[in-house]
Amino acid sequence: MTELREDHRNMAVVLDLLDELVVQMDAGKNPDFELFDEIMRYMTVYPDAVHHPKEDVVYEQLRQNRPDLSEHLDHVPDDHNDIAHLGSLLRDEVEAINAGAAVRREKMIEDTAAYVQRLRNHMQWEEQDLFKRIDKMLEAQPHTVDVSEYEHIKDPVFELEIEAGFRRMIASLK
Ligand SMILES: [Fe+2]
Ligand SMILES: [Fe+2]
Repeated sequence: MTELREDHRNMAVVLDLLDELVVQMDAGKNPDFELFDEIMRYMTVYPDAVHHPKEDVVYEQLRQNRPDLSEHLDHVPDDHNDIAHLGSLLRDEVEAINAGAAVRREKMIEDTAAYVQRLRNHMQWEEQDLFKRIDKMLEAQPHTVDVSEYEHIKDPVFELEIEAGFRRMIASLK
């Protein structure tokens, strides 16, 4: 749970970077589209590929071990799929721009703002609801969750600081 919460803090910082890009586009300026591209690639290789699947494992354990704490949670895996889908659409738009295609500014602003909002709401809900249920389960049975499958996968930006491919992002975070 410590790791999942840490991921959220990191994602919140990345969403703030996306917000700045929206503000720039809204002001009629061209944002740093390479930074934009790095951010969207980061979202697909870590939050979508590691953070959300880890949460799905924890959530599945909650459902199996504590049906009493699992009411009204059936939407969780769908939420993760929706977010991954929105993220990959946005990443495709940014890649298209970087490849020279014309994408309407208005659409870019709308899609980016919607993505940021969706993810913020999702994380907020998890922290206020889902994570509290999981904390309860772990208090009663501390060893119920096995996420060892994902343990070796480190965050390429916040933990490993891999410059290759994330240079602009890492510079923006400093
Ligand atoms: Fe999630
Ligand atoms: Fe999450």
